[in-house]
Amino acid sequence: MNAGEKQRAPWIVGVSGASGTPYAAAVLRALIAAGESVDLVVSRASRLTLLDETGISFRDAHWRDDLGAWLARGADGKPDTFAPALDDVRYWNPGDLAAGPSSGSYPVKGMLIVPASTECVAGVALGLSKDLLQRAASVTLKERRKLVVAVRETPLNGQTLRHLVALDDAGASVVPASPGFYAGATHIQDLVDFVAGRVLDAAGVEHGLYRRWKGELGGGAAPAPTR
Ligand SMILES: Cc1cc2nc3c(=O)[nH]c(=O)nc-3n(C[C@H](O)[C@H](O)[C@H](O)COP(=O)(O)O)c2cc1C
Repeated sequence: MNAGEKQRAPWIVGVSGASGTPYAAAVLRALIAAGESVDLVVSRASRLTLLDETGISFRDAHWRDDLGAWLARGADGKPDTFAPALDDVRYWNPGDLAAGPSSGSYPVKGMLIVPASTECVAGVALGLSKDLLQRAASVTLKERRKLVVAVRETPLNGQTLRHLVALDDAGASVVPASPGFYAGATHIQDLVDFVAGRVLDAAGVEHGLYRRWKGELGGGAAPAPTR
């Protein structure tokens, strides 16, 4: 790197095998729109949820094509209005424990796990590092960087609740994938964007994904801003 050249410091986005691949797509689109660099890790199990929820087979060797198709798709299956350029997205195989995000000396801003499965929550809470996604999350915690965990499961058992408390104690932000209805949702994508927006709020990334509460009742009945 030349003197004066800015060092790339991406957000790591970990997609685990919980239902909710539209949440990941919304977060990824918004990060790219905000001019953020992204390092992406897609767990083995999340390929099943992605296939189930979008019909897309995510292939390591063709990740750019498959990611492009995924991000071009809205939560209702129709084309999204914003299909971002992927120039500043770097993809890491989830089995690659020598990848950049597996070391604390690799420069990153922090990590967003969206959606987070209960297995992922358990693995990170216990420091298991069974794959790159979990290792990167453990590294994020040990380096005292921002970790946002958008857990998606219902109902939650006691084990998972204890793991979530452990993550909160360790400094992570636990952001359940539970949409609010006060921002005037009229489409599935509005509810997805609400959750994605709260994930980005926890990370401190600017976005315009949902209409914020203004201190007056009645906003929930007004339609969300057009996308
Ligand atoms: C279609 C489908 C939907 C799933 N949805 C969830 C879910 O919402 N929450 C969850 O915790 N696990 C869910 N699972 C199970 C996880 O994929 C499974 O626990 C897996 O081991 C998670 O691995 P990972 O954390 O490495 O991605 C789902 C699995 C499939 C096939």
